[in-house]
Amino acid sequence: INRVGFVGWRGMVGSVLMERMRAEGDFAHIAEPVFFSTSQQGEPGPDVGIGAEPLRDANDLDALTAMDAIVTCQGGDFTGAVYSPLRQRGWKGYWIDAASSLRMKPESTIVLDPVNRALIQDALHAGRRDFIGGNCTVSLMLMAIGELLRRDLVDWVSAMTYQAASGAGARHMRELLIQMGALHASVASQLDNPESAILDIDRAVTDCMRTPSFPDALFTVPLAGSLIPWIDKAMPGGQSREEWKAGVETNKILGRNESQHIPVDGLCVRVGAMRCHSQGLTIKLKQAMPEDELAGIVASANSWVRLIPNEREATIAGLSPAMVSGTLDVPIGRLHPLTMGPEYFGAFTVGDQLLWGAAEPLRRMLKLLLE
Ligand code: HSE
Repeated sequence: INRVGFVGWRGMVGSVLMERMRAEGDFAHIAEPVFFSTSQQGEPGPDVGIGAEPLRDANDLDALTAMDAIVTCQGGDFTGAVYSPLRQRGWKGYWIDAASSLRMKPESTIVLDPVNRALIQDALHAGRRDFIGGNCTVSLMLMAIGELLRRDLVDWVSAMTYQAASGAGARHMRELLIQMGALHASVASQLDNPESAILDIDRAVTDCMRTPSFPDALFTVPLAGSLIPWIDKAMPGGQSREEWKAGVETNKILGRNESQHIPVDGLCVRVGAMRCHSQGLTIKLKQAMPEDELAGIVASANSWVRLIPNEREATIAGLSPAMVSGTLDVPIGRLHPLTMGPEYFGAFTVGDQLLWGAAEPLRRMLKLLLE
């Protein structure tokens, strides 16, 4: 492939993708990178080594049709507006997309190559053209424990998530920080006074969260100093859509059909982290297994997973959004048998929602096409 079009490269996920592509020197392998914009066509695009070309119009189907591959981080509305008309025109290029709209279509492959490279290769050989990034929590969970599922060792998984503000969007990250600032400002003078009573401080902070003027235009409720145990729309049966994705996307990524379906379910919760999603996992194995054998399989699954010993110091030092943010590491720790029985293990994993959770699988899919 020669001509690769990029759409939504300036948004948050798109910017992380650009950073990663520059860092890995990926643009050197693209004969003709073409940058599109939904609003600033004609203005100079980014210089990725061959000088800045004017931005093309992302709604110009003729211009898009000329691409051998399109990589979009523009979001579901763009995909909804442009994908079908392009295909209806007979466009045969590769569509690499961060949005969820096309993920569960039978023709789509959800890409996470350290976990499902064989499935991706099969899809390419079968002439498939739609390669979609997975939901961030699902991809991060599979980077950590996918090998256990791939080896068919697992009966079911419960994932209880602690999801960062970035999953909701760039503006939500700003709102989280503004909320933190508002809470601090509401008690700044009392905090300066070591004699002030903590219960007075707590009351003032709670009052601040509950005032109508609290800055929660986007989250609609306080996230700083609180949490939000609901992500995305409601699904029939009581799950949120984020929780539903865990089961369906995991099985699709692993290429497991209805009869091989591994249940993955849990509760998804937004917390006041910036860009790392964390997950507390309960893993029910098909058969009891010694802990060191299980740990060995997890630790050697790929080059990014990092097993943290189940000890306090190592855990709090390495297994947190503060430490993982901005890196491709996927630490997993707290791995230990649970008292429910010899088939049950607990674990905790953290991963950067914008890297392995979004941009990196797309970057690697494009790289695969360029090889
Ligand atoms: N739906 C995820 C979240 C992010 O809200 O955290 C995108 O996969």
